[in-house]
Amino acid sequence: MDSEVNNEFPVDWEEDHYFSRREFFKFVTLASGGLAMGSVALAAWTKLPKGTIEFEPAPIAKVNDLAPGKALAFSYPRPSDLCILVQKPDGEFVAYSRRCTHLSCPVDYQVENNRLYCPCHNGAFSIDDGHVLQGPPPHPLPKVVVEVRGDEIWATGVKHTEEGSGEAH
Ligand code: FES
Repeated sequence: MDSEVNNEFPVDWEEDHYFSRREFFKFVTLASGGLAMGSVALAAWTKLPKGTIEFEPAPIAKVNDLAPGKALAFSYPRPSDLCILVQKPDGEFVAYSRRCTHLSCPVDYQVENNRLYCPCHNGAFSIDDGHVLQGPPPHPLPKVVVEVRGDEIWATGVKHTEEGSGEAH
């Protein structure tokens, strides 16, 4: 009778416990590997080459779509690369990645402060060059290179500037 029970449950508790520990250590090893890969990705972000990377030029707006103190969202160079185009109060067009460099919340243009603002953790960036003005963002916003061609505004590349400290400038 007891042997029938053992056949239905061929792994006794001790062995089952052993397998559980082995699975646990496998999980810990995989989790450590994931953390290591995340650290490498973070290190890669901080080592992004400074300077301008050229992409296929693309029209992103009509000049008349904007006015001084206004902004609009667009994507460049890929549809998933969210950006923001601003016409500064002085009339100049500037554009930046819209993903906050802290935790990727979308930034918006604050005309009253003439800056790009992230509402998630009160982060702010300069409208002039994207450097960090306040809050936890660790890096400036990548700047999208734009130029006026006739009645259109074109994007031609993305410029990574110096690293920001996250402290007020
Ligand atoms: S996600 Fe922008 S400040 Fe945290």
